[in-house]
Amino acid sequence: MGRVGLGVAVGCAVVACTIAGLLVGRRVKSRRRWGRVVGVLREFEQGCATSIGRLRQVVDAMAVEMHAGLASDGGSKLKMLLTFVDTLPNGSEKGTFYGLDLGGTNFRVLRVQLGGSRSSILGCQVETQPIPQHLLTGSNEELFDFIATRLKIFIEKEGNEDVLPLGRTRELGFTFSFPIRQISVSSGVLIKWTKGFSIEGTVGGDVTQFLEEAMARVGLDMKVSALVNDTVGTLALSHYHDEDTIAAVIIGTGTNACYVERTDAIIKCQGLLTNSGGMVVNIEWGNFWSSHLPRTPYDVALDDESPNRNDQGFEKMISGMYLGEIVRLVLCRMAQESDIFGDAPAPSLAAPFSLRTPMVAAMHEDDSPDLREVGRILEEALQIPVAPLKTRRLVVRVCDVVSRRAARLAAAGIVGILKKVGRDGSGGFAGGRSKGKPRRTVVAIEGGLYAGYAMFREYLDEAVGEILGEDVAQSVVFRISEDGSGVGAALLAASRSPENQSTF
Ligand code: BGC
Repeated sequence: MGRVGLGVAVGCAVVACTIAGLLVGRRVKSRRRWGRVVGVLREFEQGCATSIGRLRQVVDAMAVEMHAGLASDGGSKLKMLLTFVDTLPNGSEKGTFYGLDLGGTNFRVLRVQLGGSRSSILGCQVETQPIPQHLLTGSNEELFDFIATRLKIFIEKEGNEDVLPLGRTRELGFTFSFPIRQISVSSGVLIKWTKGFSIEGTVGGDVTQFLEEAMARVGLDMKVSALVNDTVGTLALSHYHDEDTIAAVIIGTGTNACYVERTDAIIKCQGLLTNSGGMVVNIEWGNFWSSHLPRTPYDVALDDESPNRNDQGFEKMISGMYLGEIVRLVLCRMAQESDIFGDAPAPSLAAPFSLRTPMVAAMHEDDSPDLREVGRILEEALQIPVAPLKTRRLVVRVCDVVSRRAARLAAAGIVGILKKVGRDGSGGFAGGRSKGKPRRTVVAIEGGLYAGYAMFREYLDEAVGEILGEDVAQSVVFRISEDGSGVGAALLAASRSPENQSTF
């Protein structure tokens, strides 16, 4: 080989080595970046851990806070609101009643026909529509005029049908799913807005009065006979079908629970007398807080960017309004550590609330071998064009961690209620046992997360089993209550009607 040949060969070798070096370097860098992303996941998983020990601490804290909230107003972050519902529908109610359900993503108007004598519900017509986004932050009058107008249109469609005896005013159960300090069973004052609603002029005012004024403005003659939280409506419907129902839980856009309490346990209202000796208490558990809750930096970031900082801490870890956002925040952090979502930052990934919880559920439950649905959602919702399979798997993992933590915490909350009322099996015979067997206990559940998200439901059921143990868990029945909040409000209006009276 001549000199020239040697030079070319050496040159080629140098170039080859450089390319190989670059490739190796790139691979090493990429591996390092992937390692960092996996590190973010691991750290997040650890932060969200809900061991059985931790869940038990949450159960205890929930029961303790419930006691404190019943002892005095302001005694706990749990408001433990009186509802003045001391009797629940039992199947004997008769007549046609109306429901109006406001509080989540959708707004519902409904009419329910009841036959009495356990003939069950004869008919139920429901109209659902999304709440126009601008109303969430508009004016008080705009919101109530919108509701009253929809209700009027619904009633006008009845035409000349004989739905009510001549001369009888239509009676309405109004489900208003925000914290309300009730003055009576049919009126109450809004304490604060939650779930992204922020309307000036409503807080501190009587929402029944707002609705009745709006109904008068649109020329609708109707009487609000019951003002109820969605949890209370759900409890009412479930109790109508199954008298063992003692509590109701909503896990939808927001989250909350209510249950039947003995009046003598409601210390803050000494001397409270009811025919049944009990009253439904709206826990407002969305605001529950305990140092035992597994809080991560992403929860802190979500709270910081929310309009209600330091508020609704439990809700922000559990409900549909927030789960998508937590997943998005984790993915954003991963994108900062690496180029897993492409070289250029995806603009939608940076936009708050661009990933909604139904998308998290769809990605989590994607069982196609190439995770097609995950790819589609990343592309459509977050404008991430190509995500390799291993990235998609990682996204599913994040969805799993967020949803599992939410479901297990909700389970701990439910067991906390059971503990408070002595149905968690810890008190032996005194703890709701009959003939050595735990008493059947029905908990009504409404909301998309439990009813429409199978993996969430499985995680929740599994955690309840883990905490209570098989024997006691078998006596606890979760009853999915579809449209319960609205139908239940109409049932409560019916049971308040002078012709229909019932007891627990
Ligand atoms: C509200 C509760 C409601 C729950 C479920 C929460 O944000 O404060 O009153 O029951 O959402 O809709």
